[in-house]
Amino acid sequence: MDCFSYRGAELYAEDTPVEAIVERFGTPCYIYSRKALETALAEYQSALAGCDHLVCYAVKANSNLAVLDILARQGAGFDIVSRGELERVIAAGGDPAKVVFSGVGKRPEEMAFALEQDIACFNVESAAELEVLAAVAAEMGKVAPVSVRVNPDVDAKTHPYISTGLKENKFGVTVEEARQVYRRAAQLDSIAVVGIDCHIGSQLTEISPFIDALRRLLALVDELAGDGIELRHLDLGGGLGVRYADETPPAVADYIAAIRRELGERQVKLVFEPGRSIAANAGLLVTRVEYLKPTPAHNFALVDAAMNDLLRPSLYQAWMDIQPVRHRDGSEDASWDVVGPVCETGDFLGKARQLRLEAGDLLAVSGAGAYGFTMSSNYNSRPRAPEIIVDGASIHCARERETIADLMRGEHRLPD
Ligand code: LLP
Repeated sequence: MDCFSYRGAELYAEDTPVEAIVERFGTPCYIYSRKALETALAEYQSALAGCDHLVCYAVKANSNLAVLDILARQGAGFDIVSRGELERVIAAGGDPAKVVFSGVGKRPEEMAFALEQDIACFNVESAAELEVLAAVAAEMGKVAPVSVRVNPDVDAKTHPYISTGLKENKFGVTVEEARQVYRRAAQLDSIAVVGIDCHIGSQLTEISPFIDALRRLLALVDELAGDGIELRHLDLGGGLGVRYADETPPAVADYIAAIRRELGERQVKLVFEPGRSIAANAGLLVTRVEYLKPTPAHNFALVDAAMNDLLRPSLYQAWMDIQPVRHRDGSEDASWDVVGPVCETGDFLGKARQLRLEAGDLLAVSGAGAYGFTMSSNYNSRPRAPEIIVDGASIHCARERETIADLMRGEHRLPD
């Protein structure tokens, strides 16, 4: 279902004209659809009906409190990678008992906070981390629930920066090492072994790498059962891709059905950590054309959003669709490089886009609900954009535009 669509020449977010949002909040501006978020989560939940499961939305994709609130109300759990993300989940009304804590570099202080909150599971990524967690838990008189993140060494066939399940990546432990880590974990009084997890990469557009990873995990689960170590849950991470251009990712229902088929009769709770497939297509970034600058080499459309607002095109050469907020009649389309005002040649949102443009026009970048705002920065002392949630015809300001004063907060000149 597309919650962003044209009515006549005009782009709407649900039942709200995008122009009406821009009138109130200016540009650049992120717009999210509540219905799109709910629908995407519901696809996972209905595909998992009838089997013990937990869908832990990956907070890093979009951590706005209102987004987390919407998903928490629908029963989501959360995958976090820092204390900050856990504090956001709690502030948004999420349940720590449905939280899994991923990440290769958890600090003892973060572990202690998560233990205080009684989270569901620590996804441990190394033998060294297990020892630190065991010590922190013992000190607190707690028992830490643990899953070991296995790096199954499968090729996710995605961009190298977002491929995580190959043996050369920093994530998890090899299948061979995992067995040792589990044996050690089983000996530690302050550790309870509860599950196994993996996350092989992001923006996967095929099911087969997930199945390859699952088979490797299941072989290990069986081996461990032989050692007397019973695992209650299996967490396949996130990674399901979305359509930005002409990709054809599997539908959530088909992906989950394939996993369930592979599991057969096994009684194990299924955990997933989707981020992108929940949030990406629930969001737009809206920007205004400041100047048109045709040059002999390229036509540049200088817009007021930049790489600091949306880093994906610059960092991963990601192609994200750019459409006018109001279609123009008349003049011919031309090929435009849509670029921002930041002082870097790598600062672009899109290249060679066929658009019919005039200065002052509004453009919408789609697929911006995931890894958009969360990867934004203040580079070039640019305040970060507001985040607006649309719910039918109503508009909710989920985050105000930063001010210049916000940017300088906590900075101090030298004494006289
Ligand atoms: N679980 C773990 C342990 C992860 O590392 C990630 C993403 C996820 C779940 C969620 O994956 P998803 O369902 O969103 O693919 N900034 C990049 C994506 C980085 C993904 C990092 N890890 C981008 O904009 O493409």
